[in-house]
Amino acid sequence: MPRQLFVTTALPYANGHFHIGHIMEYIQADIWVRFQRMQGHQVHFVGADDAHGAPIMIAAQKVGKTPQQFVADIAAGRKPYLDGFHISFDHWSSTDSPENHELAQSIYLALKDQGLIDVRPVQQFFDPEKGMFLADRFIKGECPKCAAKDQYGDSCEVCGAVYAPTELKNPYSALSGATPVLKTSDHYFFKLSDPRCLNFLQEWTQDGKLQPAVSKKIKEWFTKDENGEGGLGDWDISRDAPYFGIEIPGAPGKYFYVWLDAPIGYLASLKSYFAAGGPKAKYGEARSFDEFMADPAVEQVHFIGKDITYFHTLFWPAMLQFSGRKLPNQVNVHGFMTVNNGEKMSKSRGTGLDPLKYLSIGMNPEWLRYYIAAKLNANVEDIDFNKDDFMARVNSDLIGKFVNIASRAAGFIAKRFEGELTASLGDDGKQLLATLQAGRASIVEQYEARELGKVLREIMLLADRVNEYVDANKPWELAKQEGMDARLQEVCTVCIEAFRLLSIYLKPVLPAVAANVEAFLKVAPLTFASAEQLLGTHTIGAYQHLMQRVDVKMLDALFEPPPAPVVELPKPGGEDIAPTITIDDFVKVDLRIAKIVNAEHVEGSTKLLRLTLDVGEGRHRNVFSGIKEAYQPEQLIGKLTVLVANLAPRKMKFGVSEGMVLAASHADEKANPGVYVLEPFPGAEPGMRIR
Ligand code: MSP
Ligand code: ZN
Repeated sequence: MPRQLFVTTALPYANGHFHIGHIMEYIQADIWVRFQRMQGHQVHFVGADDAHGAPIMIAAQKVGKTPQQFVADIAAGRKPYLDGFHISFDHWSSTDSPENHELAQSIYLALKDQGLIDVRPVQQFFDPEKGMFLADRFIKGECPKCAAKDQYGDSCEVCGAVYAPTELKNPYSALSGATPVLKTSDHYFFKLSDPRCLNFLQEWTQDGKLQPAVSKKIKEWFTKDENGEGGLGDWDISRDAPYFGIEIPGAPGKYFYVWLDAPIGYLASLKSYFAAGGPKAKYGEARSFDEFMADPAVEQVHFIGKDITYFHTLFWPAMLQFSGRKLPNQVNVHGFMTVNNGEKMSKSRGTGLDPLKYLSIGMNPEWLRYYIAAKLNANVEDIDFNKDDFMARVNSDLIGKFVNIASRAAGFIAKRFEGELTASLGDDGKQLLATLQAGRASIVEQYEARELGKVLREIMLLADRVNEYVDANKPWELAKQEGMDARLQEVCTVCIEAFRLLSIYLKPVLPAVAANVEAFLKVAPLTFASAEQLLGTHTIGAYQHLMQRVDVKMLDALFEPPPAPVVELPKPGGEDIAPTITIDDFVKVDLRIAKIVNAEHVEGSTKLLRLTLDVGEGRHRNVFSGIKEAYQPEQLIGKLTVLVANLAPRKMKFGVSEGMVLAASHADEKANPGVYVLEPFPGAEPGMRIR
């Protein structure tokens, strides 16, 4: 009987694109899923965007979108990543789907029926300007321990102290800057401290189904310290409006905290996959979603990162258990991915390894799948992406040991034997192939156990055996010798048969290579069962190179920071802004409103007009101004303008000039002619100072 597997990866927050940590998780799960499918099992592999919560609501507000639109825009960008790295989800949905609204509400009502929901007043910081309660990360202030400024409401980035937001000194809202006020509101709690929950979880988390390190960690979470602190407390599952989430039935203005409805999104995504007819089309599934989930034979398998273990091994199974639903069969926890020696990686921004950039510079997605698989095991260990290590594993192992086997043999089969393999093999060849076939059981076992590093090590050891065979038999020399045709065909056939077996074993990791191998060998889709039989008498197609080597230039390009944009800043008015002055420098210049009482040409000057100005001093000033080309005297008479009134008088050929009228012009007056005298807004009076 084929197994029926319902497999998920963590639902990524819809506030950003995928980073390498997400892709690593998807690759791990996808390899396991493809392995199960190749074993003939039925797999429903689903994901979804985690749409709800305050951070997404606020991020949407900032860019002037509705949260629905914001989340839809992120969702629209998912495909190139998933297709690009050959991640074979059957379905992708959102936690804001109608299915999830309905399921979350019905699970909540079931918990309520069990008497596991409690309502209690909670005092919390409230932003009076925004009219909303503030999550810890939206409250900032001074650290109560070290007084560092601008620290978040839950912990200090400077001294590492952990505290309640109410302990912050001089708290302020990170949203509005307003001083938050304490306000009380009713919150809904899931009573995890109820003995029924505690007993259930103690059993469920310690019965050997979880990874040992995970069970151990959970034990710590259960244990109260000497002060009676810690242990499993009740879980606050409500948030007050405004909140982007699912309304709590019978509690107007209250929404489920995002982490309540997020894992329910796994079920909702599967339900919407059923509604879309996916399982029916793929496996002829006749049952409804509810019937399917009621079948105890169906296995529910989650892949998650270590940071969200608490939610998946305590809250989630308790929610399912006490709402009468199927429990997870596996919660597979992986460590974190770091890049180039653990360079710090932000959860939202990721690292310097941008998955789309990786693809866009032409790097092969299967290099990364192979590399990540080689580093993974079934434990909760962090793995590091390291350039040199990546080059070595891909070029020496994947290409050097595996891909090259085909390229060494295929040419002779095509040129010398019209693509025909032979069924009569020598004992050495038969033995080699039998060894490869015998390797399958252990490889299958390690795949099942998610020991992907071990899987690849075993496959590479088998590849070593094949390469030893090639080196011992030297087909390139056989090809030159008279009368050795039969041996050449045999040796090359053994290579191709061996290559097919290795391709079967690698197919969950290298699905695109495997598809090309199937086409080149002219065989049906490879399954693990197909390793039982050899090809025997069979004609293969033309070999096309299956994979390039990694070039170090690509890796350099991958980690090269994006070039800072070189922008030619325009020079305003054709010249740089003058060096900075202080206000003290500026007040030295006494600018006054002046009325142009008279204006006239200056005999003998092509540039100057003589202006008679009233600056409210009880006398008139005489000023020469170089604006003859721009204005007729009649245009100016009676107008107000601006005068530098304390400029030292200057004796000119035509008389003394007692100040300077202000006018605008371009630095390059030849290229940009035009002079424009300043005129104040109406209401200014002669003599008023300009400051
Ligand atoms: N929305 C929640 C999960 C809800 S599941 C019902 C969430 N989202 S997340 O986008 O922050 O993370 C999604 C997954 O990516 C998690 O399993 C998380 O552990 C994983 N990773 C995030 N950064 C990672 C690495 N650097 N390395 C490996 N996985 C990492 O948490
Ligand atoms: Zn501090």
